[in-house]
Amino acid sequence: MRHVEGRPQVVAHRGSSHDNPEHTLGAYIAALDQGAEGLECDVRLTADGHLVCVHDRRVDRVSTGRGVVSTMELAQLDELDFASWKNPWVDLDDEAPELDDQTRRVLTLERLIQAARDYDQTVDLAIETKHPTRYAGLVERRLVDLLETVGWAGADSPARIMSFSPVALTRIKKLAPDLEVVLLIDRQYSWQMATSMLGPGWIAGPGIDLLRENPRLGSRLRKRDRRIHVWTVNTVADLDLCAALGVEAVITDNPAMALDHFGGP
Ligand code: G3P
Ligand code: CA
Repeated sequence: MRHVEGRPQVVAHRGSSHDNPEHTLGAYIAALDQGAEGLECDVRLTADGHLVCVHDRRVDRVSTGRGVVSTMELAQLDELDFASWKNPWVDLDDEAPELDDQTRRVLTLERLIQAARDYDQTVDLAIETKHPTRYAGLVERRLVDLLETVGWAGADSPARIMSFSPVALTRIKKLAPDLEVVLLIDRQYSWQMATSMLGPGWIAGPGIDLLRENPRLGSRLRKRDRRIHVWTVNTVADLDLCAALGVEAVITDNPAMALDHFGGP
């Protein structure tokens, strides 16, 4: 992981999704342009075995299509428009530019890795597996295969894997013991319970709501030598809380705002 001295690493949540359509190449390039040090993405497996960056189980909210990602093939997803639902220019007087196919197109993890590499060799990728039960286990295998193919499964990999599922992370660690993993923790577990589920060396990934309600969680995790990555941190007050608690990374929809608050990239 790329360490940033004196403040948390700034990771763009679904790209710079505050003002761009989430998970599109345009949202990630905007995040890189703004100086983000990490890119967060959710991955799901298509029916024909491709890892695509889509948050929801269905494509309905973010595309011109309807359907469940895991039952669709990449070619079907490729026909849809994943950008127009949130056109960053709609509030401006300027005429909206035509979105090109590259911007509208569903983003595969492979394309995202290629784009990140082409742009900046040092940017981190924080990849969240959404592990549909339909393909339980397969998504983790495909993910590790892909990272091995690009040479990103070793100890110095710029990729780390995140999940709400300790089972999914255990599978990842079996397949690629050197990969860093982050257990995402939300209110479904008490934080005591969640911390007890953390495997050796795993990074703790509490939601900001949980941390705000239990700031002592930060110091307790520290005492146990846990690194902490927090999501989704979108206000300066929450950025300050994370910095004060010494967290290593904040995941934000608005990397430009976060970097500006921290005094620049
Ligand atoms: O970075 C973790 C965060 O993204 C988890 O929540 O729903 O945005 O995937 P969600
Ligand atoms: Ca996510």
